[in-house]
Amino acid sequence: MESERFSHKSIMLNEVLGIIEPSENEIYVDCTLGAGGHTKEILKTAQCKVIGIDRDPLAFSMNNDEYNSYGDRLDLVQGRFGDLEKHINGLGIKKVDAIFLDLGVSSMQLDNVDRGFSFRFDAPLDMRMGNDGQTASDIVNKFKKEDLANIIYGYGEERKSRRIAHGIVERRKIKRIETTFELSEIIKNSLGKKYSKIHPSTKTFQALRIYLNDELRELYKALIVSDSLLNEGGRLIVIAFHSLEDRIVKNFLRYNSVSEKKFNLGGVSKPFFYRNRRASKPTDDEIKINPRARSARLRYAYKTSFNYKGQEAGHSYNNYGGVSV
Ligand SMILES: C[S@@+](CC[C@H](N)C(=O)[O-])C[C@H]1O[C@@H](n2cnc3c(N)ncnc32)[C@H](O)[C@@H]1O
Repeated sequence: MESERFSHKSIMLNEVLGIIEPSENEIYVDCTLGAGGHTKEILKTAQCKVIGIDRDPLAFSMNNDEYNSYGDRLDLVQGRFGDLEKHINGLGIKKVDAIFLDLGVSSMQLDNVDRGFSFRFDAPLDMRMGNDGQTASDIVNKFKKEDLANIIYGYGEERKSRRIAHGIVERRKIKRIETTFELSEIIKNSLGKKYSKIHPSTKTFQALRIYLNDELRELYKALIVSDSLLNEGGRLIVIAFHSLEDRIVKNFLRYNSVSEKKFNLGGVSKPFFYRNRRASKPTDDEIKINPRARSARLRYAYKTSFNYKGQEAGHSYNNYGGVSV
């Protein structure tokens, strides 16, 4: 069983459950099913329903007995969360009570040697989450030097992106770059001896993965439709793992939310109510047990009655996460 080969610890599980507060008959969407860690705990907590989405077929190759035991309380959908509205409507559902995203790659994907996500294992340079589209190898062997540098800088925030792009282009004149170790060696040689505490390949690998899986646009697309898919009082929860993602979530919530302070200004003209303007982080205890949690940043907001698409409904702030107004 896949789940036995890879150990996956769900990030900030108690915080997520505390925000969702699973309740009977409510419907939640886990946009990033992965090993099902969050989904399974939500389903155990109350007689609710979960729609579990993942673009990676690997996510559906495990937990089969447990998933079956939830019957029609669990719907599994293989696809991108950028198509969230289509997936939910395809199940005959119009509105839900929480939308949850635990972004990035799972431990299973990172630790699965064949997927090529990690520079720690020698593997074909693949990095596709959904097993479709072009691979990282296609990109490093085909793209112009300038485009490679822009990707490495834009999605990896690697200041020495031009040197790395130059190294890639010089190497591929001699031989096609096929493996993670080949790329990692090119990066090391391009950066020279002096590099920081993080592994020299970290930023470039992150950049290629984000670019080829279109990760930032997927996030934008999901955030934008969340407004019209959530019931009033519904929860939008996002765990991000690097500043590019977190910045998108932070800005989206900032521009689309009323804050606690502004409650009494009268009228509601934003679709969300933003509780934690400073992102929540995992506890030191969680990081000790699961070092991969250390960069996690969780932000969440509650859906108000305001919809950009329609008329502003008569508003009542009943109880958004314990705040009664
Ligand atoms: C960090 S893992 C989620 C782990 C999960 N919460 C758990 O506890 O087991 C992220 C998952 O999201 C999936 N994913 C990433 N981007 C996606 C997208 N645009 N659409 C659907 N799934 C995506 C990945 O394939 C991966 O399985």
